[in-house]
Amino acid sequence: MSQEKMFALARAAMARSYSPYSGFPVGAAILTPTGSTFSGCNVENASYPEGTCAEAGAISAMVMAGESVIQDIYVIGNGDALVSPCGGCRQRIREFSTPETRVHICGPEGVRKTLTLNELLPWSFGPDHFSGGQSND
Ligand code: THU
Repeated sequence: MSQEKMFALARAAMARSYSPYSGFPVGAAILTPTGSTFSGCNVENASYPEGTCAEAGAISAMVMAGESVIQDIYVIGNGDALVSPCGGCRQRIREFSTPETRVHICGPEGVRKTLTLNELLPWSFGPDHFSGGQSND
């Protein structure tokens, strides 16, 4: 799947955003190593902290389809500032990332910056911390 198509998928997801409280629509699109794509948008509600991020929606769709590796994730929002994934979403992406996982931060005109997840979340805590760890069994 080309970068242009993935960007278009993220933009289409952003158009579905339900964000009447922040007025800040966000879209996300995931590409997996199998070539599958999944997208999501932010979904807010009247109890502000209970809203969900676009990345969380895309990850949920990926997991529901039985996939668990994010090769690339595109995140798009409006404005001049880089819409880089929030702290919580960095950890959500981390769960399904590899050292090669790339995060493409986009504006309405296209990809603005590409970073690895490790650049966004260095020294991260992840699933590997549990292997070989203490068990309660
Ligand atoms: N938002 C996302 O969807 N992803 C991010 O990584 C940053 C923030 C959403 C949450 C909320 O609906 C709106 O943007 C404003 O914070």
